[in-house]
Amino acid sequence: MKGHDTALVDVSDEVLAKSKLAITKSLGRIQEKFSQDPKYGYLEGAEVFMSSALKRLTLTTDMKAFVESADIVIESIVENIDAKKKLFAEVDKVAAPKCIFASNTSSLPIAEIASATNRKDRFGGLHFFNPVPVMRLLEDTPGFIVNRLLMPYLGEAVRMLERGDATAKEIDQAMEMGTGYPMGPFKLADYIGLDIVKLILDGWHKRFPENRIFQPITVLDKLVSTGKLGRKTGEGFYKY
Ligand code: CAA
Repeated sequence: MKGHDTALVDVSDEVLAKSKLAITKSLGRIQEKFSQDPKYGYLEGAEVFMSSALKRLTLTTDMKAFVESADIVIESIVENIDAKKKLFAEVDKVAAPKCIFASNTSSLPIAEIASATNRKDRFGGLHFFNPVPVMRLLEDTPGFIVNRLLMPYLGEAVRMLERGDATAKEIDQAMEMGTGYPMGPFKLADYIGLDIVKLILDGWHKRFPENRIFQPITVLDKLVSTGKLGRKTGEGFYKY
């Protein structure tokens, strides 16, 4: 969307086909908006924007072919430190010395991930927010301000549900109406993915076992273990 040639690398063509669909759908929403805006030349300008953005994007399973000439590599795989280190060690062998590495991790320490590479001086965190085309924050601050506050808040909402204090719908309604949040905690957790929320909380629990706020939550663990991960699987706290 910003004019850079980009390659999206994933492990299977099936996943890439799903990604292409999601990206096309998302760009379609933006095209729809631009098609009514004189600044973009209405429909014609909107169509050019959409097709040129898609033309700049390559979807591939061949990591090496694109990494060799990349200026920046942004990793966004599973929230597991060993998996991330293994991937970066591989990418480090192929990428040019000037190439900058970044992780989209939501909670893991950047310095530890970078330790798997020989470019600790060209390694950072680039943390995007869902939905990425809309949210204006890109966080690279040590400590991850948003998730450090957001995850305990989501966890406390689930504990409230677990205690039977209120239903998910009631809690969402209260936060939307009382604090002006666009989505209550259960809608947001389903949107982020319950597996992601659990991985982040579990990771912190391992690092800070004495902190009550990161303790595992039965309701959340149950949903994740039965494959109810939120919007992406059609069911989480809500059905979609
Ligand atoms: N792609 C492109 N555009 C999109 C989009 C998408 N996937 N989703 C929404 N939009 C656009 C819409 O076209 C619309 O644009 P206009 O207003 O300019 O017409 C705008 O965004 C608002 O969308 P809607 O009217 O459909 O609905 P809404 O007003 O409820 O907004 C929302 C949707 C932006 C998702 C809003 O509900 C929201 O801000 N939710 C909270 C999001 C949030 O807290 N994100 C952070 C999650 S934490 C995280 O991601 C970090 C982590 O590590 C886990």
